[in-house]
Amino acid sequence: MQDLPPEPPPGKHPAFIVRAREPLNGGPPPELLRRSPVTPADLFFVRSHGAIPQIDPASYRLSVGGMVRRPLELTLADLREQFPRRVLAATLQCAGNRRDELLAVADIPGEVPWGAEAIGSAEWAGAPLRDVLLAAGVEAAAAHAAFAGLDEVERQGRRFTYGGSIPLEKALGQEVLLAYEMNGAPLAPLHGAPLRVVVPGYIGARSVKWLGAIRLQPEPSDNYFQAHAYKLFPPQVSAANADWERGLALGELSVNAVICSPERGRALGAGQLLVRGYAFAGGGRAVERVDVSADGGATWLSAELLGERSRWAWRFWEARLDLAPGAHRIVARAWDAAANTQPEQLRHVWNFKGYMNNAWHRVDVTVE
Ligand code: MTE
Repeated sequence: MQDLPPEPPPGKHPAFIVRAREPLNGGPPPELLRRSPVTPADLFFVRSHGAIPQIDPASYRLSVGGMVRRPLELTLADLREQFPRRVLAATLQCAGNRRDELLAVADIPGEVPWGAEAIGSAEWAGAPLRDVLLAAGVEAAAAHAAFAGLDEVERQGRRFTYGGSIPLEKALGQEVLLAYEMNGAPLAPLHGAPLRVVVPGYIGARSVKWLGAIRLQPEPSDNYFQAHAYKLFPPQVSAANADWERGLALGELSVNAVICSPERGRALGAGQLLVRGYAFAGGGRAVERVDVSADGGATWLSAELLGERSRWAWRFWEARLDLAPGAHRIVARAWDAAANTQPEQLRHVWNFKGYMNNAWHRVDVTVE
């Protein structure tokens, strides 16, 4: 990795960890994420694949086309005035969250070594995608909604715009927004100004920023980031022998709990320890339970879930542990509404792109 200057990017918190500067990728120390269930914009992680485009909101147009009866060209004012405004608390998580732990199993070259900070939850406001698609008139043969960003990316010697798609059934869900605001303020350029799609419950990659066009079509997007990247392969497959057609194109997120404090390697004083973290489940399944262990998973207790049950936003949790002096391995795992839980071992989820790590989260500490 290149030597990175210590200062945070404009608009971001002084503690923001810059994982890559061009294009910009970074997020907050997970301990700071636990401050508020609504992540302030200055702590919200940034995942970008190309340079941040500067788009003039006055001349901006969203085009809606493909298999629709009435193609639309919408200004920001049209989106605000012709469609209902919906506000929704929803968590975005990158498929690469927690990749750094997978690196301990085997190398993952060329990917951002995210810790557990590639996640954030915001109050998004915007027009429901459903209403916009219904206004355009969905044709019967349409099966996928493809999104095209206005940012340029370079891969394999080609320049193209970022994109991806979601199944039409998901696109017609009430929860998918064409968001123009984040936490009550207009979207910041880093997060997709002036308009992005927010696809709750799906990997962050489908929440296309700087949205330029929506197209209804019979098949998934052929954009690199749908057809090639963000695919999940079994552990025996490598970049050299991957058959890209056969990978699982990622959509819904899986259930995941993370310990935000104490941090790894901390030396702690004797007495009761408050363990705090976040948990999130994909696909609109709420988090139902978080288990915490102070002995590497031999015995467990149930953490207290804080705040409201939600299908689309994470849940904070905490647990009090009595730890004797010595070394301890604290472990957390969550369960969702379908009783899905997390796999025990990192090596069982390792894949050469380092996606979807939801193995038990472990933090080793020493009590003095
Ligand atoms: N949209 C565009 N146009 N370009 C991008 O590089 N990155 C995606 C998604 N949308 C991306 C994009 C990925 S991988 C993630 S995880 C989220 O945006 C991150 O959103 P954020 O930067 O607002 O946190």
